Amino acid sequence: MDDASDCMVDYVVVPLVHARNERDVLRGGDRNVPLTRSDLLVPAHQWSTSVVGRISEWLDFDGVNERTILNSRLVLRQEIEWALHLSLSAVILPTPTWACTNYASCVLSSLLSSSGCAFWVEVPLISSKQMMIFSQELDDLEAHETFDDSWECWAKMKTLCNHHPNLHVALVVTENVPEEQVVDRWIGEPVRALILPVEIFLTNKKGFPVLSKRHQAFVKKFFHYSVQVIIRGAIRHPSGPSAYQQYITWLWKQIPQLTELQRFERPYWDYLQSPLQPLMDNLESQTYETFEKDPVKYQKYEEAILEALVKDPFLKGKEQVVVMVLGAGRGPLVSAAIRAAKNANRKLKIFALEKNVNAINTLLNQRDSNPLWQDVTVISTDIRHWKTDHLADVVISELLGSFGDNELSPECLYGAQHLMKEGGISIPSSYTSFLAPLSSHKLYTEVGTFNNPKNYETAYVVKFHAAHVLAPTKPCFTFQHPSKNTNCDRYCVQEFSFTHSAMVHGLAGYFDAELYKDVHISIHPPTSTPDMFSWFPLFFPFKTPVYIPEDSTVSVHMWRLTDGKKVWYEWSMNGPSTVPIHNANGKSWWIGL
Ligand SMILES: C[S@@+](CC[C@H](N)C(=O)[O-])C[C@H]1O[C@@H](n2cnc3c(N)ncnc32)[C@H](O)[C@@H]1O
Repeated sequence: MDDASDCMVDYVVVPLVHARNERDVLRGGDRNVPLTRSDLLVPAHQWSTSVVGRISEWLDFDGVNERTILNSRLVLRQEIEWALHLSLSAVILPTPTWACTNYASCVLSSLLSSSGCAFWVEVPLISSKQMMIFSQELDDLEAHETFDDSWECWAKMKTLCNHHPNLHVALVVTENVPEEQVVDRWIGEPVRALILPVEIFLTNKKGFPVLSKRHQAFVKKFFHYSVQVIIRGAIRHPSGPSAYQQYITWLWKQIPQLTELQRFERPYWDYLQSPLQPLMDNLESQTYETFEKDPVKYQKYEEAILEALVKDPFLKGKEQVVVMVLGAGRGPLVSAAIRAAKNANRKLKIFALEKNVNAINTLLNQRDSNPLWQDVTVISTDIRHWKTDHLADVVISELLGSFGDNELSPECLYGAQHLMKEGGISIPSSYTSFLAPLSSHKLYTEVGTFNNPKNYETAYVVKFHAAHVLAPTKPCFTFQHPSKNTNCDRYCVQEFSFTHSAMVHGLAGYFDAELYKDVHISIHPPTSTPDMFSWFPLFFPFKTPVYIPEDSTVSVHMWRLTDGKKVWYEWSMNGPSTVPIHNANGKSWWIGL
């Protein structure tokens, strides 16, 4: 322990009981002999802060001998109780094999009765059988079976343990690093530590331990997910563990600093938020202020309005263009229209429509105090219900949610089409939502912390971090404005192919909106608008994570439905296994009209 603290190591991993103490607890054990060395060797606070315990490796939970199996259960329980007695923050458990059902039963039993101590299951990045396949020691006939894959064994164990939130992974970095898609499966998993065996280190010209480029890239990738690093094995370097500690610290410093945008987003990583309901609820001043801090969104609107004013044939030759800002909030889109008109050298007559009486107060103050707003008329109304003789050449709105249509832009804009001239322009002119299956143990457990089954039938706004999008996104619903077809119900089925097996925890949702011709705002990763931070994606969770075997195809089903008072989504997935339809009839989550 003293050596460890001299080397600036945070904690040491030690066996809870000596490896040679293969005892028979079933028979009662020898009560007159200490189980292990005394807790008095280390002060209590150090056990809890500076020691992680290792469970004995000789245990055999899934062999053929029933007596051994039953004894292993008791030994595991005994060691975990000792770890709890010492208040250890974590214990490392042996690697599960494909036959891990009884092992999982023993671990689950302990998980259910021991809060406070995290369980880290040791899993190699590549199993020993796969290693042999890599190094071509086995011929192709024997190549790759599900049960050889360490991720598969872990996925099986986790499923048997009902995805318990306190079951984590200590990933052992192996000599070979598999292809990126295989590595990325671990991003969605609760990896708490990387175990780096000393054997995978190379020695540089000065005699110090270093990692190969491939290992470096792997470790750096996982640094983003706040993993801890454990060096394992007999340290042969003359300066002891500090040579490794210094190298890992150096590697840590190599990861690029967060950009300004990432620093802004960081507190929201994997933080679930309920989607706003700007139609049913009145937004608060703070919420408007947050919107208004995103200059990129308003620049894009300004660009779109300018393009329309300069190029659109419908507006050509008009002495004055009638513009209506639908859902004007505190007025940033009104200002964007005024700036665009100045640049286009066009005269506008602007109506700012808003149903939130508190935002109306801000708009009226703007009108009275800002000389640029002299041609702005403020109307306090729901845009669907205002009657007027002034019809708009251009309507501008931003009623978009993370999934495009989830703040009821379609219902509001179709309901306000009577305000537009025939042939008039809508900015945005269309928007499309996009979907993809997502793996994220973190998000799944976050939903579970609310302890309410309805929460698995609710979508969340969240900045994905410890999450892995499992397949390229596919389009879901599209709405065009204006449109003769004003039906807002939708149903979409999309197929996704999986070359590698995966655990799906839900669906990721995005949108891309065409404001005017080529001017878009988007959070859809392939086309996302750089530096725009007004929207995070949407997460549609599954009640139970779904295992998808390799080389399979799943179909994702998404419905957008209404009963005239509310709108809701339902979602499901079919393929090798079937996910129940979530949120049927909007029973758990809906958006008020
Ligand atoms: C997402 S905010 C955008 C506000 C502002 N345009 C901006 O970009 O900062 C949407 C605004 O539309 C308003 N709104 C939503 N539905 C409306 C409706 N049917 N009639 C009038 N205003 C509506 C909300 O009150 C809110 O102020």
